[in-house]
Amino acid sequence: MRGVSFNELQGKNFLHHIFIAKEEYMHNQTSEINLIDAFERIPVQIFPTIKEGSAHAAQQIASLIKQKEQAGEKCVLGLATGSTPKTLYAELVRMHKQEALSFKNVITFNLDEYYPIDNDAFQSYNAFMQRHLFKHIDIDPANIHIPDGQLTKEEIKTHALAYERMIEETGGIDLQILGIGNNGHIGFNEPGSSIYSKTRLINLENSTRLANAYEFANISEVPRLAITMGISVILKAKKIILLAWGPSKAPVVQKAVEGNVTESVPASLLQQHNDCSFIIDEAAAAVLTRFKSPLLTGEINWSPKMIKKAVVNMALKLEKPVLSLTNNDYTDFGLGDLLFDE
Ligand code: GLP
Repeated sequence: MRGVSFNELQGKNFLHHIFIAKEEYMHNQTSEINLIDAFERIPVQIFPTIKEGSAHAAQQIASLIKQKEQAGEKCVLGLATGSTPKTLYAELVRMHKQEALSFKNVITFNLDEYYPIDNDAFQSYNAFMQRHLFKHIDIDPANIHIPDGQLTKEEIKTHALAYERMIEETGGIDLQILGIGNNGHIGFNEPGSSIYSKTRLINLENSTRLANAYEFANISEVPRLAITMGISVILKAKKIILLAWGPSKAPVVQKAVEGNVTESVPASLLQQHNDCSFIIDEAAAAVLTRFKSPLLTGEINWSPKMIKKAVVNMALKLEKPVLSLTNNDYTDFGLGDLLFDE
């Protein structure tokens, strides 16, 4: 069952939506229940490699661009930086060069930029986007929007408001691409960022500065501030795809997908969106319950060998002799099935 979306929460029909959500719930109770969905509150697609996951995301972007083009509409993309989307951008560049995918019809808005920073500096996200995507494709430079790291602090508020207004004037972001920080940040919305947050200047956590220090000569050169699209702006995108690769992202992916919705893990707020999915590799999926405790989510074909293995494993974990295991132990371990089989 999907939650009530943030956009819906903002509307006046809240009670109506509770009613709809309840109807959906009752329906799900009688239809087949997907046990993975019982843990994962955001749809997750898992690929063996970064290349395959990125190719899948690139396909989705390309289809949307073509679909919008055929409808005579602009395609508005929200774009991310960091190491995560590099392979995706390389694939889009390949599609442009080898498959004639055109970006003439595309308008882009980037999530964030360090502050202060020279837009031409190698580490700036303005330069990053040129290097990895824009200079290789046929996008109209007038359609590229990235927060400006060169403004004075006094100018930022007006800049942020204008940035959001421009997004609205295009009709809103059709597809927002996100990465995820080790602390759960999306864009540069650090833990504690409100679900209602707007585009603004934000203090970077030291852990974030440390994670991004590889782009700079040393940590002291990593800016302490950044301009970021707010969470409320991200949640207004019509569709959201979050990408995550590698074992270091596994714990935060699990929290975002299976944990409670909390501002201390900003990516968990994506559970409130009605069209958000995660595209991740196997390493980033490693601690999802479906892999860490498959007995809780899978349909098991209980061979005698499997039963022995599961029961011995449970006894070892609980430090109890097998014959002292209780019915509650079996159900807590997701082995309730065994109590009913002969
Ligand atoms: C960066 C960016 C985010 C990005 C995240 C993860 O600092 N501001 O938009 O998603 O942190 O970075 P990486 O992809 O390098 O792991």
